Amino acid sequence: MSLSEIEKKFKELYGKKPLLVRSPGRINLIGEHTDYNDGFVFPAAIDKEVLFAVSANDQNKFRFYAYDLDEHFEMKVEDLKISDSQWANYLLGVAAQFKKEGYEIKGVDCVFGGDIPLGAGLSSSAAIENGFGFALNEIYGLGESRMEMILKSQMAEHEYAGVMCGIMDQFASMNGKKDHALKLDCRSLDFEYANIDLKDYNILLCDTRVKHELASSEYNTRRKECETGVKILQKYNKEIKALRDVTPELLKEHQEEFDAVVYKRCAYVVNENKRVEEAFEALKHNDLELFGELMYQSHEGLRDEYEVSCKELDLLNSIARRSDDVVGARMMGGGFGGCTINIVKKEKTANFSKEIEKEYLEKTGTHLKIYKVKIADGTGLI
Ligand code: GLA
Repeated sequence: MSLSEIEKKFKELYGKKPLLVRSPGRINLIGEHTDYNDGFVFPAAIDKEVLFAVSANDQNKFRFYAYDLDEHFEMKVEDLKISDSQWANYLLGVAAQFKKEGYEIKGVDCVFGGDIPLGAGLSSSAAIENGFGFALNEIYGLGESRMEMILKSQMAEHEYAGVMCGIMDQFASMNGKKDHALKLDCRSLDFEYANIDLKDYNILLCDTRVKHELASSEYNTRRKECETGVKILQKYNKEIKALRDVTPELLKEHQEEFDAVVYKRCAYVVNENKRVEEAFEALKHNDLELFGELMYQSHEGLRDEYEVSCKELDLLNSIARRSDDVVGARMMGGGFGGCTINIVKKEKTANFSKEIEKEYLEKTGTHLKIYKVKIADGTGLI
């Protein structure tokens, strides 16, 4: 599916010339489940994206067409609410945020489609929310900043998809920059770009092609467990607002007051936050070995302490860990399926791909999907 196909379909359906927008998915180098703990993350936008053709209409209707699914959706603007269509909810959720702020959205015609695999943990939903919000902002001349649009996309996810996500995905998709990852402080929302020149290495995503049911309910449970931990420590220091404010030493000091599960969750987050800072420094000094080691540690924490991995992700990770062709690997995103991210020697990429595909098929009966990704610009006009 190409841009010209999206544009052609739009003209066919609505008979006019649309505004064209692209919005990318994201990877995350390190810093998982830290965003909603006011911590640090290190994501980047990628060259897998959702393309939009959008225009205002005078019918007081939302008229959407999902190209990849070949599905239409329609709703009157005055009836704006959560629908039975999961994909339409991402768009409606964003429109609802604009409406809440008092902007008058009349009708919208929209055709969209893309190549971000669904359910693979590459944030196709954030890409859709950002792209649609960006387009609305343009066609209605609303003058919203990127930050305001990011927050609207995040709220759409909370209110229309029921996932209490942090800010990482929407932020990375909107503010990505070609060949750069961004280290984001999820409390202050300050960020710094880091040039990612992996020289002799590729970024390879290995897609388990499983998405376990648990994903969104467990996500919300993890958030609550972290909040429980914060409440315990707040008794000793009122300045503690989130796990971001907790050192490993302080946590250890109060271990007996914690339920064992809550303790494990908190220990993971506190250590992962430290790892992001270390990984950022390691990359700055071209220390890819250390960077890779931190990725492996991150995976172990997600598997054993935060318990959001699954056997398929663990299998992929252990194959990578055994291989001399890989410098670092870990599960990526919310967990319970989706992809691992692997930093693989360029000249060994074909070899490693073959090996991991073979072993994954033998042990799970599923064909792995592998994506070689490049770091790309964030949401924008075409
Ligand atoms: C999902 C959420 C993000 C983040 C990651 C885990 O992708 O949308 O906000 O919490 O999981 O790091």
